[in-house]
Amino acid sequence: METAVQHDRPLASLDLFEEITRLKKELNAVILAHYYQEPDIQDIADFLGDSLQLAQAAKSTNADVIVFCGVHFMAETAKILNPTKQVLLPDLAAGCSLADSCPPALFAQFKAQHPDAVVISYINCTAEIKAMSDIICTSSNAEKIVRSVPESQKIIFAPDKNLGAYLMKKTGREMILWQGSCIVHETFSERKLIALKVRHPNAIIIAHPECEAPVLAHAAFIGSTKALLEFTIQSPHTEFIVATEAGIIHEMQKRSPHKTFIAAPPNEEKHCACNECPYMKLNTLEKVYLTMKHRSPEITMNEELRLRALKPIERMLKLSK
Ligand code: 13P
Ligand code: SF4
Repeated sequence: METAVQHDRPLASLDLFEEITRLKKELNAVILAHYYQEPDIQDIADFLGDSLQLAQAAKSTNADVIVFCGVHFMAETAKILNPTKQVLLPDLAAGCSLADSCPPALFAQFKAQHPDAVVISYINCTAEIKAMSDIICTSSNAEKIVRSVPESQKIIFAPDKNLGAYLMKKTGREMILWQGSCIVHETFSERKLIALKVRHPNAIIIAHPECEAPVLAHAAFIGSTKALLEFTIQSPHTEFIVATEAGIIHEMQKRSPHKTFIAAPPNEEKHCACNECPYMKLNTLEKVYLTMKHRSPEITMNEELRLRALKPIERMLKLSK
């Protein structure tokens, strides 16, 4: 944490928007932010997107420094794509329950049990898991990636069992699923969702495919964060119950100010912020400023691991053009 040392002004007295804009020029930095970041970070970002858009933006940037406002696996992907650029993550503890649910040693054993299977891994995984995969996908392109694999080929899908089950239903393909999940997308309560829908009969439910099947069954539209946003912009409906991380509502409301967005209710009986990702929300505007000022914390990676993880990401990017 920053302290009020002799030459530093205390954080509270700074205009962080102004300071971050100044540092951006000084470092020739680009700020990439996921839709689940806090509103101030979304507003100051040069590029706001979902996992696929952010990976594509990281690949095409000319900046010297990438300030990644998202979680660790996303910043790691940016580093895999940009070994010579400095990649900063405002809080190194910004992990992901889904990535954590797939430890590399256990996954290696699982993979060894199915030696003839192609491994498709959701981008929400560590570099070690990516290095053990044949192709990466995000929720934006997962269906296309699964369909790109010949029908006769066995597929292991990791780590999200909910996205995997959704894809099996959508494509009719059998897949061997790793049993991982996201704590945020598993928090939604079907019972409360139905009760909310009764109170808002004109609202339609939209959901991210990381949600469990009983929640998805009530959704009028299922898609990645970006697809959900675009759906709300184009839809003639004016009221939406949104079953994904609540951070996306900031951009939905900005893009459709006259429409109403209601965050889907979590399972807890008490009031809680369980539909907010605790990892994503570790990043704050203050930390963005400090990480740019000190050029730390930085993502570093072993070159041999980077090269192995790069191959399946490049395959995904090629297929996503
Ligand atoms: P997308 O950005 O692909 O929608 O994924 C959502 C998510 O959980 C990111 O961690
Ligand atoms: Fe991971 Fe879920 Fe948070 Fe996304 S919302 S970063 S999948 S824990």
